Amino acid sequence: MLTTGHVLEVFPGIGAIADRRLRQLSLDVWRYVSDRNPTWSDIGLIPLHPTLPIATHGTLIAHVAAMARLAETLAPLYRELWAQGLDLDTFRAAAYVHDAAKVIEFTDSPAGLQAIAGYNHAIEAGRIVRELGGPEGLAHMCEAHSFTGPLVLPRTRDAQLFLLMDPICLNVFPEQGPGVFERHLKANGWDAPQTLERYRPPR
Ligand SMILES: [Fe+2]
Ligand SMILES: [Fe+2]
Repeated sequence: MLTTGHVLEVFPGIGAIADRRLRQLSLDVWRYVSDRNPTWSDIGLIPLHPTLPIATHGTLIAHVAAMARLAETLAPLYRELWAQGLDLDTFRAAAYVHDAAKVIEFTDSPAGLQAIAGYNHAIEAGRIVRELGGPEGLAHMCEAHSFTGPLVLPRTRDAQLFLLMDPICLNVFPEQGPGVFERHLKANGWDAPQTLERYRPPR
């Protein structure tokens, strides 16, 4: 089981969410996923994906913390350059809950940690936020946050930005194996288009 104390310990930024309902929702989502799969007791042991070992690519905690911090970086930038006021509480809450359904998706098996085939943790996070009475805009940010799997087209400013932020906050680069774009294309079964001219790297 994941306790509320543990969730607050690994994600102290949840305490920085000023809106009481969004703060509570962030904790409720983690309790919800833990109820569905109680085998996880330490979020620090959850990788980005079973194919992305923590030793090379870091933990889910680091990814989530990066999402929250990137939102804090982008908010003043968008305000200054385009007079776009991003609601930081909404972005923080989205950061803390958007990948929580990986607790359900990733399960231990005799062959090691495995992801449930066909399980879409993004769409599931959106569904959970709605079921727990969270704001529709936040649910949509969650369901549309991933390039892996069939794309849920972002239909709001916040969801579009959040989808673009997600792959930035990954320590997954071509120098370490397949990069995020190669992985996302493969996950969707997309091959390189048959063009006459192909890019040739410099000799
Ligand atoms: Fe995700
Ligand atoms: Fe993510």
